[in-house]
Amino acid sequence: MNDHQSLRAEFAKALAAAADRDALAALHAGWLGRKGRLQELFKQMKELPGPDRPAFGAAVNVLKEELEAAFMARQEAVRQAEGVRAVDLSLPGHAPAQGGLHPLQQVLDRITGIFTRMGFAVEDGPEVETEHHNFDMLNTPFWHPARMDSDSLYLVQGHMLRTETSPVQVRVMQEVAPPLRIIAPGRVYRNDKPDASHSPMFMQVEGLYVDHGVTFSDLKGTLLEFYRRMFGPQVKIRFRPHYFPFTEPSAEVDVSCIFCQGAGCRVCKHSGWLEMGGSGMVDPKVLEGVGLDTEEWTGFAFGLGVERMAMLLYGVDDIRLFYENDWRFLEQF
Ligand code: DAH
Repeated sequence: MNDHQSLRAEFAKALAAAADRDALAALHAGWLGRKGRLQELFKQMKELPGPDRPAFGAAVNVLKEELEAAFMARQEAVRQAEGVRAVDLSLPGHAPAQGGLHPLQQVLDRITGIFTRMGFAVEDGPEVETEHHNFDMLNTPFWHPARMDSDSLYLVQGHMLRTETSPVQVRVMQEVAPPLRIIAPGRVYRNDKPDASHSPMFMQVEGLYVDHGVTFSDLKGTLLEFYRRMFGPQVKIRFRPHYFPFTEPSAEVDVSCIFCQGAGCRVCKHSGWLEMGGSGMVDPKVLEGVGLDTEEWTGFAFGLGVERMAMLLYGVDDIRLFYENDWRFLEQF
């Protein structure tokens, strides 16, 4: 037992002196390893008379556990101290993963930035809309093909996922007296199978301007200015006669191809023009529906596809990429 006391003291001293990994490893081998001093002690057991052996063995075991515990504690302390000192300032750093705005949000921000500087206020409306606002109030008769299950997504009790941002026009006119000048960006939903150019959810920006004496040339001037600021001063626009239930007359808007400047290329299918959205003069029936005097007020409206613009601006050829949220795609913006 006295031997053990002096062994303890000797071990403690050696342990305190072991200040790095190598010293600790050597200490461990010399004391606690297979050829270490404690193993030697166990061997001495054989030289004792039989009855003394159990007590001796038990005492060595206690000592061994004690030294092992002390060793582990010291090892941990040395590791931590070394860890701090081992910072190598010449190593390259870990670049923090950087967040960013979704490409659609970036395009949306540009669109709303341009229109707000032109004096348009930003409004929004519910994505779960009533059939009444989405269709009836927009002069869309019950037999119109857009109202079929195959095109639109219906919920219960006259509700549906809005198929367009146009019902926001109605909601705003019901609440605010003209003159008014608003845009309404937001998600819309259609019963479409996803493919490279279709997504059941996509984004539109609605525009509405109602005032005294608003004319079709105001519409043209506004959209021309918008597209110039969006794509550059060189763009031209053209209006193709079309039909929408809520505008009369109605027109689809094309922009001269931003890739070939109208000369004809793959993107514009050699037409020189890119289809951008719908527009027209607000149909008097829509104005009457919200209680406006059609002798006093006129207005124009338009609806633009956001993904279309993003795809052109960024050279993205599949709309689904915007909604898969694959980090490898998103990090490029
Ligand atoms: N709501 C139409 C659509 O989703 C787009 C549209 C066309 C909106 C003409 C308008 C408009 O405001 O005047 O296809």
